[in-house]
Amino acid sequence: MTERPPVLSVRGLSVRFLLPGGRRIAAVTDARFDVAPGECLALIGESGCGKSVLASALLGLLPANAQTAGGAFLGDLDLLTADERTLARTVRGRRIGLIPQSPAAHLTPVRTVRSQMEETVAQLTGVRGRTALRTAAERAARRAGFPPDHLDRHPHELSGGLAQRAATALALIGDAPLLLADEPTTGLDRDLVDRTVDELRRHVDADGDRALLMITHDLAAAERVADRVAVMYAGRIVELADAKAFFGAPGPRHPYSRGLLDALPDRAFTPIPGMPPELGDLPDGCAFAARCDRATDACTALPPFTGSIACHHPAPAPAPAPAPEDIRA
Ligand SMILES: Nc1ncnc2c1ncn2[C@@H]1O[C@H](COP(=O)(O)OP(=O)(O)OP(=O)(O)O)[C@@H](O)[C@H]1O
Ligand code: SF4
Ligand SMILES: [Mg+2]
Repeated sequence: MTERPPVLSVRGLSVRFLLPGGRRIAAVTDARFDVAPGECLALIGESGCGKSVLASALLGLLPANAQTAGGAFLGDLDLLTADERTLARTVRGRRIGLIPQSPAAHLTPVRTVRSQMEETVAQLTGVRGRTALRTAAERAARRAGFPPDHLDRHPHELSGGLAQRAATALALIGDAPLLLADEPTTGLDRDLVDRTVDELRRHVDADGDRALLMITHDLAAAERVADRVAVMYAGRIVELADAKAFFGAPGPRHPYSRGLLDALPDRAFTPIPGMPPELGDLPDGCAFAARCDRATDACTALPPFTGSIACHHPAPAPAPAPAPEDIRA
């Protein structure tokens, strides 16, 4: 069987911010990963490690002081070099549905949620007529757990959790092949977190050609929905792993990933010591070395990313599944 091409292919993506006085912030460095059709990839990592900047780069939403390198392909289209007209007309909403990290800021403040929902339905699905638009908007609201009787509210009349659900509803309307969800569960209680990520998963499963890239701090949500996990530290992907092996046995391989899981209250509840380095002043070697209990002299050299791990002393890789003839023996 021929393998289908990825929905998204990120190839050596880097983002630098140029600051007055010549300072450079290395927000994302050499990110490489694919998201396959039918796959949910969770991108995790501490605050400020570059997750949202990576998402903004994919959508052409970086500020003017940003420089990018590498490529990020949606089919044949390189998102990093596509012009604004192409991104606005054919990518945002249609080929990539975005659930933004600050939904309240993403919604238009002077219009009701209903009018924004109906406008998006009309733009992306071609539905016309008052009654049909009303029905479609209410359906979209329900899909994301947004109560239809709140549709006539303005964004400032919504709680953070409700604004989150309104943004999720808007992102799902276009049935885009790639959903990019940046902290889609912030401000939601556990039941709603589960409902929201289950809806995102359903969106992917409803059509085997769709995919989800979900940025999250909520590792329980990542475990619930993800097929694979990408761990980011100081702008770099340091581990890319199968979600079952990562959250279960044998667990993560990178010391930073292990630290993230050990910090959880239902695990060791032991925080990672120290703080991440400044992205404007990164060391030459491994950026995690100052916090790492496995660091050696070798770690003063940058560990290369093998496609699954960037560490000189990772925990052993999971044993490969036995071949059928070994099981029979
Ligand atoms: N316009 C900008 N100019 C300079 N630096 C910026 C700019 N935008 C973002 N940064 C920096 O890029 C880094 C990565 O930010 P980003 O928002 O991607 O973090 P994050 O991983 O999404 O964090 P969080 O989990 O808190 O959302 C941060 O150090 C941030 O200060
Ligand atoms: S490369 Fe060295 S310092 Fe970095 S995470 Fe691996 S063991 Fe720790
Ligand atoms: Mg962010």
